[in-house]
Amino acid sequence: MANVYNWQIGRQMEYPYEGARPKRQFAAVFDLNKCIGCQTCTMACKTTWTVGKGQEYMQWNNVETKPYGGYPMGWDVRILEKLGPQPWEGKKYVGKTIFEAAPRGEKVLGYLKEELDWTHSNAGEDEAAGTLDKGAYFTMPTHDMWFFYLPRICMHCTYPACLASCPRQAIYKREEDGIVLVDQTRCRGYRECVRACPYGKVLFNPVLRISQKCIGCYPAVEQGMQPRCVTTCIGKIRLMGFLSKPDEVKPHVPMDFLVYVKKVALPLYPQVGLEGNIYYIPPVNVPREFLRQMFGTGVDQAVETYLKGKDDPELLGLLHLFGDTKEIVETFTVFPEAREAAGYDKKGREIVRVPFTEPDYLRPFYDDARKVYRHNIS
Ligand code: SF4
Ligand code: F3S
Repeated sequence: MANVYNWQIGRQMEYPYEGARPKRQFAAVFDLNKCIGCQTCTMACKTTWTVGKGQEYMQWNNVETKPYGGYPMGWDVRILEKLGPQPWEGKKYVGKTIFEAAPRGEKVLGYLKEELDWTHSNAGEDEAAGTLDKGAYFTMPTHDMWFFYLPRICMHCTYPACLASCPRQAIYKREEDGIVLVDQTRCRGYRECVRACPYGKVLFNPVLRISQKCIGCYPAVEQGMQPRCVTTCIGKIRLMGFLSKPDEVKPHVPMDFLVYVKKVALPLYPQVGLEGNIYYIPPVNVPREFLRQMFGTGVDQAVETYLKGKDDPELLGLLHLFGDTKEIVETFTVFPEAREAAGYDKKGREIVRVPFTEPDYLRPFYDDARKVYRHNIS
């Protein structure tokens, strides 16, 4: 085992291979306060990548309802139970990661998901936790009765468990963008990767007898475009980009700003130790204890920062760039006076500019030119 640094748990940890951070790391931020659970992302991914034989049950992108949903069934509860207590001391995780807790002779602590686990992708959908007494009303911002949607794709981890566990070394992480792929010609269907991924994001194709997973829409990313699940999201909750190494933070890079500078976007179950690269802005209405076990110790600061976002032009501006262009926003600038935010591509070309407030257009009730009545609806 090598010793590698995992910034999300604030310490060195054991990993089967030497750490080698890629030149650029594929990353995304999902704002959970805005997800409406419409599954447009799920269907966009499904119709693009998983229409083949043996892929019928696959959802490389899925959206589940927390606290009761999960696909595969109970994926998070099961791995957290296996891991045992997960103590933190401040920003440092002092419990074991799934690499450190691996049984003797194995590289990763995991479990093999079975057929039944993949049969109910929408179980628990819209089921709320908590109860409301008669006559009770919602408190703000935390609600006594709550649920939220959790959209998920492969985390394209810095320390992938799938890669670590494959005896064929059939899984690799691309140097140019950190996307994690299964080499379909090397894979022999051992399914150690399915057992190892704590997020349940490697899926076995029973027809081809090999494993498959989210490919980060790399053909689009190579062309400077964001993935399908990002560009089709009607809630505009997603922004994909590249995250710099933790010691090379660039504040004008959207991912760096949200993750390292403002710390408003957090990793999912950082305690498992994979340093996943999909980050979440936690939902402000959900009890903090639940959020802390899910997103780590940064939850309170993230929620406070988000709630104050309306008075923070830079954060507000960047949040407005979510879902407003298909191209990858490499850098951004906010113009507080004009109340506008702009995004730029790799060459510094402006690719998007949005106002903080959408202008209102009031049209005359009767359009003389077309001889029609018009209603102003939004
Ligand atoms: Fe591998 Fe799972 Fe990490 Fe994706 S989320 S890179 S499948 S370990
Ligand atoms: Fe390896 Fe997983 Fe294939 S363990 S051989 S990539 S099924």
